[in-house]
Amino acid sequence: MQTTPNVQAYRAGLLTFHADPAFSERAHSWYEDGLLIVADGKIQAAGDWANLHATLPPDTPVTDYRGKIITAGFIDAHIHYPQTDMIASPAPGLLPWLEQYTFPTERAFADPAHAAGVAEFFLDELMRVGTTTALVYCTVHPQSVDAFFTASEARGLRMIAGKVMMDRHCPDFLCDTAERGALESEELIGRWHNRGRSQYAITPRFAPTSTEAQMELAGALARKYPDTYLQTHVSENEEECRWVKQLYPQARSYLDVYDRYGMLRPRAVFGHCIWLDGQDRARLAETKSAAAVCPTSNLFLGSGLFDFEEADKAGMLMALATDVGGGTSFSMLQTMNEAYKVARLKGSYLPALRMFYLSTLGAARSLHLDGTIGSLAAGNEADFIVLDPQATPLLARRTARTESLEEMLFALALLGDDRVIAATYSAGKRVHAREG
Ligand code: GUN
Ligand code: ZN
Repeated sequence: MQTTPNVQAYRAGLLTFHADPAFSERAHSWYEDGLLIVADGKIQAAGDWANLHATLPPDTPVTDYRGKIITAGFIDAHIHYPQTDMIASPAPGLLPWLEQYTFPTERAFADPAHAAGVAEFFLDELMRVGTTTALVYCTVHPQSVDAFFTASEARGLRMIAGKVMMDRHCPDFLCDTAERGALESEELIGRWHNRGRSQYAITPRFAPTSTEAQMELAGALARKYPDTYLQTHVSENEEECRWVKQLYPQARSYLDVYDRYGMLRPRAVFGHCIWLDGQDRARLAETKSAAAVCPTSNLFLGSGLFDFEEADKAGMLMALATDVGGGTSFSMLQTMNEAYKVARLKGSYLPALRMFYLSTLGAARSLHLDGTIGSLAAGNEADFIVLDPQATPLLARRTARTESLEEMLFALALLGDDRVIAATYSAGKRVHAREG
């Protein structure tokens, strides 16, 4: 048989999920000496080296990552690319932080060249931390969306993004109108949604910065294009929640504002979801909407602690997310580190396996993209990462003493960051290789 040039193989420890470890005993597969076979940018097989290597076409090159772990690429369910340059800006809470840093920083994205430059840096950074798909906020400027997708498409990445809609309670230079916001969003849907690996997210920033007219039009778009995404913020901060109550006195709750405009549906992803009640959680679950859980941001801005236990009781879809620049790290490992502590402060417990699930297959399910990304299942797009348990002297020392997969993953989550990502692959192509 002839060697097929488009087949690649990788020998490493393989970790992949089939189900949520919180609800299933057989949620993951772990192949300590595994083989991942990729053909034409898709995963062909993942399993034990001993079983699979004989199936390789003769002379197939095998990249030797023994001692390292391959998983599906991380998925970040909520991140703002325009906030890259203002990460780690100090402010006493969400609303002053938006006024002092966020809005002035987003102003510069009126300039397509500026937007393109930041998009390139942002995507480099995602690749360095092993994030192969993200649900991304752009700014109010349509050119910020064009710049982002132009850059992600050129790299062949699976990305979801959208133009912020906001027509009140923001500086004039960031204000659209209800009509213009909807028109520009629809044009962008036409231009980018389902073009290659790009998908569009309708993006009303949050209820306080949209008039009722804008909320109506955003909801109408969400109904007209049911396979687009919808992303926004909800119940992040207590002061914000009080403001929403004043602005929308007719709504039962903050989440109910979005519900009234028809925005709860599959592929709707709500950032933060901290100050919810039981009825809100039940509505998220029954509409198959998802929560994007952003622990580094929530701790940094002092917003509050996400309740994993209540979310699980309600059966909500959820995914971990960075929320850069409110979040303080691009790394999903650092995000797991903080998620673990948030759970502890709420009296609950997040095993490392669960946190890896919530950053891979759980996130793909939240985005209704399982079967495409999020695991090493045959047929999925070959977006995967190579984790190095010896990335730092301390990690090498600690992981030499771990006695289970759970302990190993826990050490990676608590001690790891971009240095752990030895390589990142998107659609079978290596898009990042760590130096050294
Ligand atoms: N609420 C409205 N806009 C934003 C934002 O940019 N970041 C965060 N964390 N919350 C928001
Ligand atoms: Zn956000």
